[in-house]
Amino acid sequence: MSSAKKDVKKITTHVLQEMKRRGEKISMLTAYDFTMAKIVDNAGIDVILVGDSASNVMHGHETTLPITLDQMVSHASAVVRAVNRALIVVDLPFGTYQGNSKEALNSAIRIMKESGAHAVKLEGGKEIRESVERILTAGIPVMGHLGLTPQSIYKFGTYNVRAREEEEAAKLLEDAKILEKSGCFALVLEKIPATLAAKVAAELAIPVIGIGAGNGVDGQVLVTHDMLGLTYEFSPRFLRRYLNLYDEINGAVKKYITDVKSKDFPNDQEQY
Ligand code: KIV
Repeated sequence: MSSAKKDVKKITTHVLQEMKRRGEKISMLTAYDFTMAKIVDNAGIDVILVGDSASNVMHGHETTLPITLDQMVSHASAVVRAVNRALIVVDLPFGTYQGNSKEALNSAIRIMKESGAHAVKLEGGKEIRESVERILTAGIPVMGHLGLTPQSIYKFGTYNVRAREEEEAAKLLEDAKILEKSGCFALVLEKIPATLAAKVAAELAIPVIGIGAGNGVDGQVLVTHDMLGLTYEFSPRFLRRYLNLYDEINGAVKKYITDVKSKDFPNDQEQY
């Protein structure tokens, strides 16, 4: 390991909890490959999520359900090789933890052992409590995920805002408290009303990181491909695009094609 690697103050689950205590917001973005993870980490992001959104973004599936544990291990390993500072959290994919806490533990162990990541994320509340607790017995930090949980898309039927009704909001708050009590070190809240998200963040001691959950939480997460404008079909209200890379890349590729066809590329200086 280089001395530069050793000198960096790494982000740990304890650092995130300290950040919440002193009111410093937590920044989190996704990455699924070495190059993007290096850029995001060097920019100073606190948490990198190897999300199962890789199923959509990297593999072209319509939902997050098809991605496999082997594929998640492969994405996570590439990210781990790139990252020096950020905490790396990896999604346990659909079908590798629900309803069987022993399988959940085995899946989490595979992620940690084969990729070198730092923590896992699971979707769900009360119904995954046993899995969360069992994974924690192996010393593996767990991040929770409530609200819109894309692995349950066929139960919800839509990607609409969750927990607008009082009953669902009360259940979400109860689930959040269960996850905290079970030992989760942080929680993601996806696409829920901002007032509810702020209430959850205020009632929990662990950091609450939002996506489409307003500004009253302890941090924010976005899918990197969306915020860079590499994807263009997906435009929810909560998404702020910082670049329009789809158009930039499209333009560059078109220019390259023109240059090749017109014999402009390579020129005298670009050959041996
Ligand atoms: O898979 C993912 O990218 C996620 C974020 C949307 C939080 O879970």
